[in-house]
Amino acid sequence: MTRPTEQIYSNYTPEDFQVWETLFNRQMNLLQDAASEKYLEAIDMIGFNAKKIPDFNEVNKVFKMNTGWSIEVIPNICPDDKFFSCAANKIFTSTCWLRTMAQLDYLEEPDMFHDVFGHMPLLTNTDYSNFFTAFGRLALNYIDKPYAIELLSRIYWFTIEFGLIRENGQLKIYGAGIMSSFGETKHAIANHSQKFDFNVDKILDTPYRKDILQDKYFVIDSFDQLYSSIPDIEEGLKKRI
Ligand SMILES: [Fe+2]
Repeated sequence: MTRPTEQIYSNYTPEDFQVWETLFNRQMNLLQDAASEKYLEAIDMIGFNAKKIPDFNEVNKVFKMNTGWSIEVIPNICPDDKFFSCAANKIFTSTCWLRTMAQLDYLEEPDMFHDVFGHMPLLTNTDYSNFFTAFGRLALNYIDKPYAIELLSRIYWFTIEFGLIRENGQLKIYGAGIMSSFGETKHAIANHSQKFDFNVDKILDTPYRKDILQDKYFVIDSFDQLYSSIPDIEEGLKKRI
């Protein structure tokens, strides 16, 4: 399907607004108790709400005042080389289209509810942002080595997409793949899955599946821990390739 390559706000339909409002309200309800406090603070700061599909011009202004990210619209999933090079330069590649009302719970490819609601708020957090850009720089150094990129994708998967964080002794969500999914949010905080302390070597040796609710999650203690792990990730990579 042809997807838009720029956000033309007047092109959003009443159904798009209904989809955004339904998904936003449903997730925020669940996330009050389940999400990292840093995410909840960030979503307030960035100004997302149920009534308005985010306007990228406005989000860019908040990014600029905080960590300096900007948004580049992509129609579908971004190729690895472009994704990492953008991340290294604080450019977040995002779709700008929404799923339909019939697709609220399942979508084969990420739409803007995933990219925007799931990913964007935490980009205003300095430690998280530093990790993301450092990860992009590291991945670019290995872009011609498919096995290294596969190993790095495990780090990305178990942190930025499906990461959990321990806050005040409780497990909370920060991964965008969980944030943007009603089913995965309920699943991740329930006791049906294994939870491991964040461990770079273990993650590098853990393949993942995209087509199921996750059966294991890795738990960080802080976003600074993520950023501080970059040298360990590089060392772990060198041992394995
Ligand atoms: Fe994502």
